Amino acid sequence: MIENDIERIFFSEEEIRERVKALGAEITRDYMDKKPMMVGVLKGSFVFMADLVRAVNTYCDIDFMAVSSYGNGTSTTGAVSIRKDLSHDIAGRHVIIIEDILDSGVTLSYLKGYLMNRQPASISICTLLDKPSRRKSDIKADYVGFLCPDAFIVGYGLDYAEDYRNLPYIGVLKPEIYE
Ligand code: IMP
Ligand code: MG
Repeated sequence: MIENDIERIFFSEEEIRERVKALGAEITRDYMDKKPMMVGVLKGSFVFMADLVRAVNTYCDIDFMAVSSYGNGTSTTGAVSIRKDLSHDIAGRHVIIIEDILDSGVTLSYLKGYLMNRQPASISICTLLDKPSRRKSDIKADYVGFLCPDAFIVGYGLDYAEDYRNLPYIGVLKPEIYE
C-alpha cells in the first residue's frame, strides 16, 4: 500500500478541497466574460486541474502542455524542454497556466516566456503549492493554493520517480524510500 510510505501528511484531502474551491471562486470572479484558456502543465497538475476547473463557474477552454525539467531525482536539472505543445492558438486570449508546484521557478519562467511570444492578451499563473524559499528565477504566481515548506512532497498529482501521483492528499515520504 502506497500510504505506508508516507511519513507525514502536509495537506489533507479536506484542506485541499476547501482551498481549491476558494481558488476556483477567485478565478471565476477575475475571469468572468474573459473565457480564459486554462493550460495544465503535465503530468503533475492533472489532479489539481481536474478539481480546479470544476470549481470555476465561467466559460473556459482547457489545454495541456508537457515539459520536462526533472529527471527521476528530487531537484531540478535546470534544463527545460517542451514535450507536448498546446493544441489551441492563444493569440489574444487570456491564459492561466496551472501548475502543481512552483519550486525553483525555472520551469514556469521558461514556459511563461515561451507562451508570451504568441501574443496572448494576458498570462497568469495558478499553482497549488509554492516553495518561495527555493526560488532561482524571478517569477511569482498570481494564485497560490498553499505555501509549502522546503521538503520534497508527493501526492495529489506530485510524484517521486513517477510514483504517488494517485495519493489523494499531500505528504512527505519516509526517508528510507529515497535510499
Ligand atoms: P521548478 O522548475 O524547480 O519550479 O520545478 C517545478 C516542477 O518540479 C514541478 O512542476 C514538479 O513537477 C517538480 N517538483 C518540484 N518540487 C517538487 C516536490 O516537492 N515534489 C514533487 N515534484 C516537485
Ligand atoms: Mg514531477
